[in-house]
Amino acid sequence: MMKTPSICSLLFAFLVIFLCSSAVSSDGHDDFLQCMSLQSNNHTSISNIVYTPNNTSYSSILNFSIQNLRFTSETTPKPLVIVTPVHESQIQPVIYCAKENGMQIRVRSGGHDYEGLSYASEVPFVILDLFNLREISVDAENKTAWVQAGSTIGELYYRIAEKSQTLGFPAGVCPTVGTGGHFSGGGYGALLRKYGLAADNIIDARIVDVNGRILDRISMGEDLFWAIRGGGGASFGVILAWKIQLADVPEKVTVFTIDKTLDQNATNIVHRWQYIAHKFDEDLFIRILITRVNSSEDSKRTIQATFQSLFLGGVNRLLPLMQQSFPELGLQREDCTEMSWIESILYFAGFPIESRDVLLNRTQPNVPYFKAKSDYVQKPISKNGLEGIWKLFFEEEAEEAEMILSPYGGRMDEISESAIPFPHRAGNLYKIQHLVYWEEEEVEATQNYINWIRKLYSYMAPYVSRFPRAAYINYRDLDIGVNNNGNTSYAQASIWGIKYFKNNFNRLVHVKTKVDPTNFFRNEQSIPPLNSW
Ligand code: FDA
Repeated sequence: MMKTPSICSLLFAFLVIFLCSSAVSSDGHDDFLQCMSLQSNNHTSISNIVYTPNNTSYSSILNFSIQNLRFTSETTPKPLVIVTPVHESQIQPVIYCAKENGMQIRVRSGGHDYEGLSYASEVPFVILDLFNLREISVDAENKTAWVQAGSTIGELYYRIAEKSQTLGFPAGVCPTVGTGGHFSGGGYGALLRKYGLAADNIIDARIVDVNGRILDRISMGEDLFWAIRGGGGASFGVILAWKIQLADVPEKVTVFTIDKTLDQNATNIVHRWQYIAHKFDEDLFIRILITRVNSSEDSKRTIQATFQSLFLGGVNRLLPLMQQSFPELGLQREDCTEMSWIESILYFAGFPIESRDVLLNRTQPNVPYFKAKSDYVQKPISKNGLEGIWKLFFEEEAEEAEMILSPYGGRMDEISESAIPFPHRAGNLYKIQHLVYWEEEEVEATQNYINWIRKLYSYMAPYVSRFPRAAYINYRDLDIGVNNNGNTSYAQASIWGIKYFKNNFNRLVHVKTKVDPTNFFRNEQSIPPLNSW
């Protein structure tokens, strides 16, 4: 016999139905998807570019460009939806529907953000992944190119070399880096002393603003055009494409790599390099990579300084120059290899120089767990100071640690601090990137490595820039300060903002207030508008 339901069981049933339905809508993607369909003329095309956790390819689309395994764990917050537009016109509905449904947008181009800001967020969010927007058109005659923001720098270098052996571009070393994030944060590589940063060589851009308008340099105005060249694109809109000025490179460049361990006088040579590397002829770039290695003779551990160089000219011009300016390195003709500029890109990236097609790969074979930090050095570090660094490199957690010292000077000294938001110009001898890599997945191990790099960073404090202790936004480091999850005060954001941008931070806030006053485009380190608290 069926019992008449009691008021309590009716209430319970109602509660279950209510909770279940609110759980569905708190998944959030249904309303967003419905909105996307309504906003788009062609429904089929939308279904081909939208991925929710219900799609079998959701995880592979999410993970394929992640460059730091720290942010692939189960605890990393995942997007409700990933949209991969194949046409610029598909971006406006994403902005509109994210706003309508209270979702944040994380724009991803190459996925190299050191703290995963392009694909992880604590609040409900959608990833707008631009990897399908990667058209590159090179105009060799006028030495310019239009590059869609989803292209990688490897693809860009490849396309330039298809058209010309004597044109290049001053962007980064790792080919899988995306132009969307890289150029909007500055972007540098071995051409930095001759031509400055990637962002110094941008002459036009296209962006979708918070109202869904597509703007170019003229229609966005000089303030916004200034802000996206080094101020980080994520605060201002969705950058669609860059027009860049290509750089002249000689038919033959020369490269070399020389390792020096402590037994081979590494400390003295690194010490000396600090006094001269920023004054070399601007055709000469010599960076140093510091690592711990096993010494070949007695299998003891030692510190190795690797001097890696690009010279924009032939070996016959390089040798006397090195003899005159840096004889301590003992460079010999047989250490040097002449090659084309595009081959030097492969050389610096660690690939065989014949394997040009690898520049078209968008993924790296071995993605590590890592944490990085950056510093600027304005006075040479004493030998004692260097020895203190070596000591830290002998600690257990530093087995896979690295320090990369990149010389400034040359063109970097000539560009004013306020020309673009990237302010680190004259007065800086070199930049340091501190890195620690590891393989263990466990939280405790992760914490040990992160503690180690924080210890190194504390140790470095007396030797590097102060007031502010400057940092490079493309080496994103959330340790230096974060925004509130929501609104952020100017004062709070200036803690990290002044480090990345010095006095340019104020102008960035001014631009943000003008172009995105409601702070729709935001993340843990985005520029706040003035009206936020
Ligand atoms: P990603 O897609 O993760 O974006 C980074 C940031 O920019 C995020 O905040 C994102 O939302 C935003 N963004 C991306 N595309 C956007 C767009 N179209 N519109 C608006 N905002 C956008 N740097 C350097 O100067 N020289 C170097 O040699 C290297 N080498 C290097 C090697 C490796 C292995 C890594 C992981 C990183 C580097 N970098 C570097 C750092 C690199 O420049 C930095 O991480 C860039 O921001 C990466 O840009 P992506 O587009 O790849 O990242």
